[in-house]
Amino acid sequence: MTSVETPLSTLANGQPSERPGCVQQVRYGHSNGGLAVLSDVQTVEILAHFARERIPERSVHAKAAGAFGEFEVTDDVSDLTDAKFLSRIGKKTKLLTRISTVGGEKGSSDTVRDVRGWATKLYTEEGIQDFVFNDLPVFFIRDPIKFPSMNRSHKRHPRTNVPDNAMFWDFHVNNPEGIHALMHLFGQRGIPASLRHINGFSVHTYTLNKADGSYVYVKWHFRPEDGIKTMDSDTAVHLAGTEPDYHVKDLFNAIENDDYPSWAVCIQVMTPDQVKDAPIDIFDDTYTWPFDKYPLRRVGRMTLTQNPNNYFQDVEQACFSPSNMVPGIGPSADPVLQARMFSYPDAHRYRVGPNYFQLPPNKPTNKVYAPFVRDGPGTMNGNYGGDPDYIFSELRPVSFSKRVQVPTHEHWNGQVEAFSTSVTDNDFVQARQLWHIICKEKNGKNQFLRNILPTLHGVPTRLRSQVFEYFGRVDAELPKLLEQGLAQEMNGN
Ligand code: HEM
Repeated sequence: MTSVETPLSTLANGQPSERPGCVQQVRYGHSNGGLAVLSDVQTVEILAHFARERIPERSVHAKAAGAFGEFEVTDDVSDLTDAKFLSRIGKKTKLLTRISTVGGEKGSSDTVRDVRGWATKLYTEEGIQDFVFNDLPVFFIRDPIKFPSMNRSHKRHPRTNVPDNAMFWDFHVNNPEGIHALMHLFGQRGIPASLRHINGFSVHTYTLNKADGSYVYVKWHFRPEDGIKTMDSDTAVHLAGTEPDYHVKDLFNAIENDDYPSWAVCIQVMTPDQVKDAPIDIFDDTYTWPFDKYPLRRVGRMTLTQNPNNYFQDVEQACFSPSNMVPGIGPSADPVLQARMFSYPDAHRYRVGPNYFQLPPNKPTNKVYAPFVRDGPGTMNGNYGGDPDYIFSELRPVSFSKRVQVPTHEHWNGQVEAFSTSVTDNDFVQARQLWHIICKEKNGKNQFLRNILPTLHGVPTRLRSQVFEYFGRVDAELPKLLEQGLAQEMNGN
């Protein structure tokens, strides 16, 4: 190959190529006509590869921005965890972050009312640690089998192929545990001003633990050091039409201009002893933990400093999973988290292929020796040469860590049973507290109503009454306000 500046044009197999743009053909006189020949390897290669250059987009969280950066420990947490990347103040770890909308497709607009997904991959000396979070602190469901249904109800109608308000409310009225998340979604934070000014929440309870068997429960919080900034719906609707990539551009340009966004990484902590007296169910992702009882404790700082050189390679092919946890960080008995630990690697094997761990954004930076995960499409890691490909071989001695992650801490004893959660008045308590906060915000109440009202258009009358009743469980005033608001809209006020 000649210099990097002036590379020699080749085929993908390295052979020097014809000037791309030329097509080998039997020319028809001096006209532009001719018969193209199949032996023109370059033309065939370019056309054939184009037809194969897409990978399936993520079934949720398809539209996103991504950037590389760094995590730095700012506070001592050695009393809680022995995770090596958290072991001393000042320790830095490289990371990749991808921030997404949830419901829209890869080409959809950024400034929509939706949850923002937050995925961060840390390349630690003990392997990959992923934080796969959201910008709202609670989730819509707590029975994992409902996840596909919930997402479909937010996406396109199977017949009309457009998003459908009736479908959205039909799901939520009949799965009312999502009320707390809905109150957040229709509040000011439902549309961020930029991706640089959003929170990241673990939503689930995780554990921090140590080799001696001790552990605490934690909820993770990423808080933007520049503060939260939100966008009103009129601006958002306008931008969705005129600047559909508004948030992606904003993050990219900020980083290009060395204006690096940063977040304080914090945790709320609960000891196992405190769980029985906790005012909420810590294994239920529809609840937050009260700050007065479980104050935030700072762990570190996360900064995004570098745009990817190639979006497809580094962000589209990035595979995040809550199952990527290093020793010292563990899951909890939240069944939604447990289901997610299966679902993400499963999605990656389908979307990117079974060897996704070998691709640049997903490749651990420490030495990997996993000889029972081998062969398959795109193998490029040496494939463990002639090492045994079966378990309990004595031919190739291997050493073992005594500090592996065992994801169970509580003692379990019981029978398998089919279970789904049921909804009680308790599920409306935190939603009501949030409503009172919204009412105290400047113009908060009005905006909240204006954010919901458009979603009631086209909803059949009976279902609409059910939506009013649903919000009536949050506050008796809400059905009347919604009804009045709708009536005013219809009268064109
Ligand atoms: C049962 C519950 C859930 C299931 C089954 C589920 C499943 C999935 C799947 C299949 C993907 C696409 C992955 C891919 O193709 O690369 C995804 C993406 C994502 N999910 Fe979930 N999810 C669930 C709940 C949640 C919750 C509670 C959160 C936040 C706390 C969350 C945050 C995310 C994020 C941030 C992404 C995008 C990751 C990326 O940037 O590549 N999900 N989820």
